[in-house]
Amino acid sequence: MALRNIVKKGDEVLTKKCRVVTDFNPRLHKLLDDMKETLLASGGVGLAAPQVGVLRQAVLVIDTNQEGEPVIELVNPEIIAREGEQEGPEGCLSIPNLWGIVKRPQKVRVRAQDRNGEFFEVEGEGLTARAFCHELDHLSGVLFDLRAERMLTQEEMEELYAEQQEEE
Ligand code: NI
Repeated sequence: MALRNIVKKGDEVLTKKCRVVTDFNPRLHKLLDDMKETLLASGGVGLAAPQVGVLRQAVLVIDTNQEGEPVIELVNPEIIAREGEQEGPEGCLSIPNLWGIVKRPQKVRVRAQDRNGEFFEVEGEGLTARAFCHELDHLSGVLFDLRAERMLTQEEMEELYAEQQEEE
């Protein structure tokens, strides 16, 4: 495994649509392994392939609601059901130090393939639902600031950081 560089907003790779994965080969496995290492080192809860410069439909989400906080690999994912609504702060590893208030479904169901091409479905609620929506948006070239009702002020961000410090 190797750490990959996280692309930042301004790079056009983040605004492009990703291609469907058709080969579930060692190259895909290496990409997913590298993305996992990069995500775990970043402190984020999700990472999409375009964020490491690869225009393929693959994302990782850490399910913080599940014991052991497993990293879920989603290849060619699509949201097949959504329920409820939540409104809250959202950030992105590609837009460091900026947060915005974004509305997302409270619960989503995603259908995807695993690294071997097997189809499966997974549900996410709360932060995990938010992460699924956010990461899938990356595959269409959409960043969260486009969906944000407003961005947080410097003061609000400091409060948010302080809350996160307390939780750790
Ligand atoms: Ni992001």
